[in-house]
Amino acid sequence: MKHKSLLLTLLVLFPAFLFAGEGMWIPMLLQYNEKEMQEMGMKITADDIYSINHSSLKDAIVLFGGGCTGEIVSDYGLLLTNHHCGYDYIQKHSSVEHDYLTQGFWAMNRGEELPCPGLSVIFLREMRDVTEQVLKGVDIDMPEDDRQALVDKNMKSIIASVEKETKYKVSIKPYFLGNEYYLLLNEVYTDVRLVGCPPSNIGKFGGDTDNWVWPRHTGDFSVFRVYADKDGHPAAYSKDNVPYKPAKHLDISLKGAEEGDFAFVFGYPARTNEYLPAVAVDQEANVIDPIMVDLRGKVLDIYNKYQEQDPKVRIQYASKHASIGNGWKKWMGVTEGINHFHGVQKKHDYENRFHEWVMASRSRYMYANLLRNFKNNYKELEPYELAYTYMAEAGMRIELVNFAGRFARLSEVTKDTPQDDIDRMVNQLKGTSETFFKDYYEPIDREVAAMLLKEYLKAQPADFRPAFLNDIKNVDEYVDKLFAKSMFTDEAKVNALLDNFKVKDAKKLANDPALKVYQSLIGFYRDEVYDHISSITKDNDRLRRIYMKGQMEMEPEKRFSPDANFTLRVTYGKVEGFKPKDGMKYKHFTTLEGIMQKENPDIYDYVVEPRLKELYNKKDYGRYADKDGTMHVAFTASVHTTGGNSGSPILNAEGQLLGLNFDRCWEGTMSDLIYDPDICRNISVDIRYVLFIIDKFAGAGHLIDEMTIVE
Ligand code: ARG
Ligand code: GLU
Repeated sequence: MKHKSLLLTLLVLFPAFLFAGEGMWIPMLLQYNEKEMQEMGMKITADDIYSINHSSLKDAIVLFGGGCTGEIVSDYGLLLTNHHCGYDYIQKHSSVEHDYLTQGFWAMNRGEELPCPGLSVIFLREMRDVTEQVLKGVDIDMPEDDRQALVDKNMKSIIASVEKETKYKVSIKPYFLGNEYYLLLNEVYTDVRLVGCPPSNIGKFGGDTDNWVWPRHTGDFSVFRVYADKDGHPAAYSKDNVPYKPAKHLDISLKGAEEGDFAFVFGYPARTNEYLPAVAVDQEANVIDPIMVDLRGKVLDIYNKYQEQDPKVRIQYASKHASIGNGWKKWMGVTEGINHFHGVQKKHDYENRFHEWVMASRSRYMYANLLRNFKNNYKELEPYELAYTYMAEAGMRIELVNFAGRFARLSEVTKDTPQDDIDRMVNQLKGTSETFFKDYYEPIDREVAAMLLKEYLKAQPADFRPAFLNDIKNVDEYVDKLFAKSMFTDEAKVNALLDNFKVKDAKKLANDPALKVYQSLIGFYRDEVYDHISSITKDNDRLRRIYMKGQMEMEPEKRFSPDANFTLRVTYGKVEGFKPKDGMKYKHFTTLEGIMQKENPDIYDYVVEPRLKELYNKKDYGRYADKDGTMHVAFTASVHTTGGNSGSPILNAEGQLLGLNFDRCWEGTMSDLIYDPDICRNISVDIRYVLFIIDKFAGAGHLIDEMTIVE
């Protein structure tokens, strides 16, 4: 009874740690959330969302290309996902003559759809709880390696026996940090074709400038189609394949959503860490992330300076800018959110309760040292994490060094290396080198190198630096010499070497100063850092598993949601805006007016397509207009999402499609560590804007005819 009243205290003190938007729920266990979901407005049942006895919404959801989510919206395998998820495949089909990235692409009939080798989509057919079988024979005092060996052995034998009874791909994944295990039966389709995508001015509107930011106006969608053999089974690409007929496709609502309406997202979130101890959150948000933000910010400043001066450089560095900038912006949001929300303090308070609970009973001895062990481990880990961070973000970020590193294996060949292997390496490197030089601008890299090496020297003590750094007397002179002496700044020299490579050239490569820097960085990491990080992390994984178990025991009545692990999840909340700061309120939706307000023909990210302007001027929105007469473009909701949820459907109370999730507001990106329903918002593109672009902008109404539209 005593611990029940403690639980009540917790409920009162920590409302933010309870549901209200938080949680990435396992579809097969959704009946435990059904009541709450219905109280929030949901009109359908848990069984309508996930069932293995009849068709359900899950039959329309796929893991797309291994990193995003997609959904089926017609009986002919038509699939929607984000533009940024289809980007690689669109790019592979693009050339100067057919620049689909810039112009967009629309197959006007099925014959024009483009096969995408390497692209697959995965349907979850069934999941089963196999916790008991996987943990058979495991006990809490077992040494970690023995435990892992037993778990692996159990999993192997379960998989082998299930494989005998099914045609599906069988796998088992840990949930709740290894306290539970679920078996997944998946079906993988590999004939997936590109059907359409808007021009980048729509699909990437706002680009990196708007990335992670609200208000947002990106038409972030692309269209694919899944093909199967004539019996509906997965099959390699063939002209004879037919559109895949799903057990269920999503219906599409043209009604939009009002502030406060129930909404849920169904998809494949990749990774969250909601149950980390305070020390770990503090370290991530206040030590590691700020360093990465600072270093990347300085790199981006240099990129920006040169990109603004020269349109060619702007294009050369666009994609590098995008990938460096994505993390940079996100981590800034994480730190700000954790501190603004007093996340570390809240975790400490929670840990104090946990400690009291542990101390209240002798039977909880196995939890007694957890928090102290965490503290020691993270303290011990910190210098190595920093060493790794500088190695990756300051050392390897120098393009010259990174590129030189690609030649490391070739620099080690001897006369005993089979000629075939050498030929293969050389051929690969020709491709690598062509791609590298196409987008390389040496003045940027020199300036970046000098800046990063100064930061590296300033921040890391001598015994935490790779050897080459300790030999530097004057950074600017060193960088000048490095760039003057290395062959890797010179395309002609690299080509000449590759065109006529002899085993004796390996030595020349190995002596190149840029390759030596690379070897020094790698050697330092391998010899001085890796073992520490991996052994401490292994122990932390064990502690985290036990801590998770303890938390669940302490609050037996709380519904816990397992951290994201790239398996199918349901998350739910409300369509709503938020207050990012005192005196500010964000509306929950944006419109085409906002695109016109952002329009700037001189800024790459804000160029508006003439055809879109024409439709805007005529207000030719057809049935896709909101009832307020405007064209809604994007909207926010308090639904807990993360990377991998890109392309996920966001659905209304009836389970109809409202839009496609594609981002979060950066003020709430800490939701990977701590979810706060007041400031964590996901961003989706409104399905009516998607259909408007397909129908009115692209004239691909035949695709709309396949869909089930609810007006
Ligand atoms: N921030 C989103 C995500 O994490 C979108 C990234 C792609 N868009 C971009 N402008 N870089 O994946
Ligand atoms: N853009 C992310 C993705 O590609 C989703 C945004 C997020 O991290 O919430 O998965």
